[in-house]
Amino acid sequence: MAYQTLIVEIEDSVALIRLNRPDALNALNSQLLGELAEALKALDSNDKVRCIVLTGSDKAFAAGADIKEMADKSFVDMFGSDYFAPEGEAILRVRKPIIAAVSGYALGGGCELAMMCDFIICSETAKFGQPEINLGVIAGIGGTQRLTRFVGKSKSMDMHLTGRFMDAAEAERSGLVSRVVPPAKLVPEALAIAKKIAEKSALTVMAVKEAVNRSYETTLREGVLFERRLFHALFATEDQKEGMGAFLEKRQPQFRDR
Ligand code: HXC
Repeated sequence: MAYQTLIVEIEDSVALIRLNRPDALNALNSQLLGELAEALKALDSNDKVRCIVLTGSDKAFAAGADIKEMADKSFVDMFGSDYFAPEGEAILRVRKPIIAAVSGYALGGGCELAMMCDFIICSETAKFGQPEINLGVIAGIGGTQRLTRFVGKSKSMDMHLTGRFMDAAEAERSGLVSRVVPPAKLVPEALAIAKKIAEKSALTVMAVKEAVNRSYETTLREGVLFERRLFHALFATEDQKEGMGAFLEKRQPQFRDR
């Protein structure tokens, strides 16, 4: 499938999606988010793909929603089209893991897009921010909710109210990203992590993703119950027998997603 705003490559069970609007620092317009939703849906049902990496360029993961596209829109336009809601929902429906690999700017909708992925790794040049306040609006695809859960209320309020940027060291310190690597190593490192995940049982990987994401949606007690039921259910799989059997036989497991 050819896209105009994305470059998609598949190798060794891992899909790499590059956001590709270099002239606008990968600003997210309807075309890009539409293509991204379509690409993710296709990759989710592609048997050759077990893990997905989403990245931008060295200069920008994405500098936000496209201000040129939004500037003249009315309330009726935004509310009537439920601007970017269907695309956001499509990203959240993907069952395979998505790793965001961020270099440079991840601002506004760009930061929100990274936070919709399953985890974020970044390069030393990364700059995260929710600067919508400078445009007379607020975050619109989850930023006030997700950033608060990642970094806590105080830092989230600070970011949203001042519009300041957070560098890679602060992002790692505050739990927004899981790892920081040199810029040249960002994509290779993300692909290596994805390949490691691709070696696991796809069933177990999906169970982890569902269980961790559940912690966003429910109480601790319900979340722990959900986790326990999934844990129990995995004993119905061949991959549990293979994983535990391989450990006891001191060999590498051969998972078959069954
Ligand atoms: C449209 C953008 C853009 C954006 C950059 N560009 N960000 N176009 N929407 N969000 C374009 C610029 O207009 C310019 O195009 C080109 O990209 C290069 O940008 P420069 O500003 O010249 O680069 P630089 O001086 O290096 O500054 C980089 C920057 C700055 C700090 C990232 O571009 C910036 O502040 N961008 C806006 C960031 C922002 O406010 N994001 C939040 C958007 S609102 P030309 O044609 O002039 O060369 C949002 C809401 C989400 O995200 C909710 C959605 C539902």
